Amino acid sequence: MTEVRTVGLLGGGVIGAGWAARLLLNNIDVVVADNAAGTEAAIAEVMDNARRAYRNLTLCPPGAEGSLTIVQSVEAAAEAADFVQENLPEDQALKTALLGRASRAARPDVVIASSTSGLRPTALQADIAKPGRFVVGHPFNPVYLMPLVEICGGAGTSPDVPGRAADFYRSIGLHPLMLKTEIDGFIADRLMEALWREALHLINDDVATAAEIDDAIRFGPGLRWAFMGTFLTYRLAGGAAGMRHFLAQFGPALKLPWSKLEAPELTDDLIERLAGQSDDQAGGQSIRSLERLRDDCLVAVMQGLKRHDFGAGRALKQYEEILYERAHQTVMVQGDRIDAPLVLHQSRVAAEWVDYNGHMTESRYLQVFGDGTDALLRFVGIDSAYHAAGGSYYTVETHIMNLAEVSAGAPIEVRSQVLGVDDKRLHVLHALHHGNEGTQLATAEQMLVHVDTALGRAAPAELEVRDRLVAIAEAHSVLDIPDSVGRRITMPSAPKARP
Ligand SMILES: NC(=O)c1ccc[n+]([C@@H]2O[C@H](COP(=O)([O-])OP(=O)(O)OC[C@H]3O[C@@H](n4cnc5c(N)ncnc54)[C@H](O)[C@@H]3O)[C@@H](O)[C@H]2O)c1
Repeated sequence: MTEVRTVGLLGGGVIGAGWAARLLLNNIDVVVADNAAGTEAAIAEVMDNARRAYRNLTLCPPGAEGSLTIVQSVEAAAEAADFVQENLPEDQALKTALLGRASRAARPDVVIASSTSGLRPTALQADIAKPGRFVVGHPFNPVYLMPLVEICGGAGTSPDVPGRAADFYRSIGLHPLMLKTEIDGFIADRLMEALWREALHLINDDVATAAEIDDAIRFGPGLRWAFMGTFLTYRLAGGAAGMRHFLAQFGPALKLPWSKLEAPELTDDLIERLAGQSDDQAGGQSIRSLERLRDDCLVAVMQGLKRHDFGAGRALKQYEEILYERAHQTVMVQGDRIDAPLVLHQSRVAAEWVDYNGHMTESRYLQVFGDGTDALLRFVGIDSAYHAAGGSYYTVETHIMNLAEVSAGAPIEVRSQVLGVDDKRLHVLHALHHGNEGTQLATAEQMLVHVDTALGRAAPAELEVRDRLVAIAEAHSVLDIPDSVGRRITMPSAPKARP
């Protein structure tokens, strides 16, 4: 597929704005077709929340953002796009008609996806020009944080299109789930719908309030669902004998009429009761503030799971690999001149990096130099494949010298000088500079040791990596070595006592 630089979004409501935020933060230009007044302002608010969430989600330096354009017709959004994502109201006739119009304006090779929660792709592709490029890509709210996207082709979808859509979604941090069969509601919404129906019965029958039902999930099964889902959780509930024992013990209950399956009638009384209980739960908090609470909690869950390399935490880890690779690729590439300190990491002082003095706080210097080291390692070939094969450099010593202050918003860059390298060791001097003014702000001298991560001990780096480092070290051998290198911290010696 041609590189996706611009995405056309049809509809910029809850889901369209969420897509816009994820795409813009991935430096992809977005053209949104929406006929509602205030779309741009609403997307700007979602972007504020999304930027805030990303700053908490990852330490990867924020990259450039894509541009946002609002247009009035679906044709205008589609003709500019390398990928189209439809997010119009869940109305089959409306979607079919507008998808048809958009498809006639789009280039013939452009994949057209729909965010529909449950409509069948075969029905939606009825009026599409070149219907083989149509696929459902069903996301979850908030699209800028939730990793899952369900991909489902229709009867007319070309076999390669779900895979092409999945590749694109993966590149912006999503976790595609490929559906083998076209069904109403796909997988996740079927499950959520079953729970939702039963929950409505519990309210309708006055068994529990909305808050009590939510407590039943969030203090209980919801915690396990977040990382193990249903089946792995039940396997453990079966004890040592696993799923077979679980089925033997709890199988008979499946025949008991615990669940009603059919939804209750949405009577005025049920709607009033549920809406009132939902208002009580919200306790007067605005939607935007509840969204921020939701985002903070989602970030906390994903970061917690990242430490265990499990479930959505693994998706976050893989996304961060992409973000770091992208952030560092843009600065220098192999083949560029290496006879000066390497400028491999450029960033900006984020507002929340600043302390009560208005200057970048101490811990962020280490973070920025760590990002500089990561960029250097990536430059010499230490990428996710190298890590997966069990090799990595660990930093064993750092000496930071703070030389000048820097304020929020200032562009910064790390210039890296390789002082020495052998089989296992790498000696580096990073200098942090103001990106515009050139002022040197700090230096960090670091010693790194190459390790075999499986064995947990020092081991020689791969030859190719070592060769690249040696070439840089040789090129840098003509550079001045600052006096600060090798310096240790001492008190100035006390003046001699007068005789
Ligand atoms: N809300 C969710 O949690 C969620 C989750 C996953 C998928 N979806 C799916 O995403 C799609 C959009 O849902 P939503 O929740 O964002 O709805 P929404 O009502 O918030 O947004 C729909 C947008 O489409 C715009 N629109 C309507 N007619 C238009 C037209 N003729 N031309 C241009 N724009 C038009 C509206 O102004 C609105 O901004 C639906 O198919 C839904 O099933 C929703």
